[in-house]
Amino acid sequence: MPEYCDLILKNVSTPAGLVRDISIKNGLVAHSGSSGRAERTIDCKGLYCLPGAIDMHVHMRGGKEQSSKETWKTGTMSALAGGVTHVVDQPNCIPAIKDASTFESRLKEAKSQAYCNFSINAGVMKGADLSGMHRAGAMAFGEIFAAPSSYGEGVPPEYLRSAFLEIEKSGCLATVHAETVLEGTDDSLDAHNCLRPVSGEAEAVSNIMEMAPDDLRLHFCHLSSFESADLVSGRHTFEVMPHHLLLSTDMFDAKDTFARVNPPVRDDATRKKLWRMWDKIDVLASDHAPHTVSEKSADFSSAPSGIPGVETMVPLFLALVYQKKISLESLIAKTTINPARILHINCAGYEPGMRGDFAIYPKRSEKVDPGRLHSLAGWTPYGGMEGVFPDKTILRGEVVYSDGDFLKGSPEWIPGEGYI
Ligand code: DOR
Repeated sequence: MPEYCDLILKNVSTPAGLVRDISIKNGLVAHSGSSGRAERTIDCKGLYCLPGAIDMHVHMRGGKEQSSKETWKTGTMSALAGGVTHVVDQPNCIPAIKDASTFESRLKEAKSQAYCNFSINAGVMKGADLSGMHRAGAMAFGEIFAAPSSYGEGVPPEYLRSAFLEIEKSGCLATVHAETVLEGTDDSLDAHNCLRPVSGEAEAVSNIMEMAPDDLRLHFCHLSSFESADLVSGRHTFEVMPHHLLLSTDMFDAKDTFARVNPPVRDDATRKKLWRMWDKIDVLASDHAPHTVSEKSADFSSAPSGIPGVETMVPLFLALVYQKKISLESLIAKTTINPARILHINCAGYEPGMRGDFAIYPKRSEKVDPGRLHSLAGWTPYGGMEGVFPDKTILRGEVVYSDGDFLKGSPEWIPGEGYI
């Protein structure tokens, strides 16, 4: 007789075509297949119940300087409303995460506000205390800026080489923003594209792979082209973002700053070619990079780069599953199983021992309505596109989001393996 549990999800159809009852206790799946008794039961018949996604590339902002763009509270609520139950925060916040003390204050802020599970990455820049942040619980190093971007100076190659050696010794993952930035006037989407070209991204990927010591766990952030992704080989992994698969420059006015992002949104032919990589893409992540409407409304050359997207990522791609353009298995692999494998953590799933984090989706899509999203940024480039948003999101066996209402459950900090 199965033990008394916190929650039972009844009639869950798995992508393998099985129908099971999933029992959750103490945050983990306790039984799968048989039904027992629990505090609460949710019938998932006629709905899709997917494991909670891991978004391994978000910028939660917050702090004194950036809380008008996003806070840990609004960013993680936005995550839950998009079926994401674990976010991995990037270190280019203000102040940047560069030692144990900046890491600890970031952690304190996250612990007091987060609505979903979270991890925090360590910054890699001259003077950074890499081993201090590793011991403090950093999930990974990076994104390491091999080229400059919003709130990130490019690191010089000599420094990167020595940092790689230290990271290799620690056994931790290095995640790299690989681009080459040319000199010129950055005053339109086309100019932005020419100054951060596909060829420069590919060249940076090659250089970094050549520089990486043999045992470094290396992961490339947000690759925007077939050419760059095709270069990634061996044990190395890479992620691709929704904006590089779904948006292209022809969808925007030439000077539209809201599509300004690094690496840039490309032309339609480049976007379509990137789709040829779908099967090889390890991770789909959002690069959720909220900036306010007023910051984005500056003239093109001075507007910040970045697009919010933690809430729309799974919904936009689940709509593509419904349209039979991609498989459900591939979406779960890229948003849950592979990020967990790359980060060396447990993920949500249908088997006993996996995390009891799920999102329950209706079987129909709707148009993305910018007014219903929860990021403080208050805008999205995906308005009017088809998306499938969860009715309910479950974190550690507790319903923490239900039809627009949030409950502060018991989100967990998930530290990296170096945590002492
Ligand atoms: O466009 C971007 N914005 N690319 C990045 O790599 C950083 C991000 C940000 O932090 O705003």
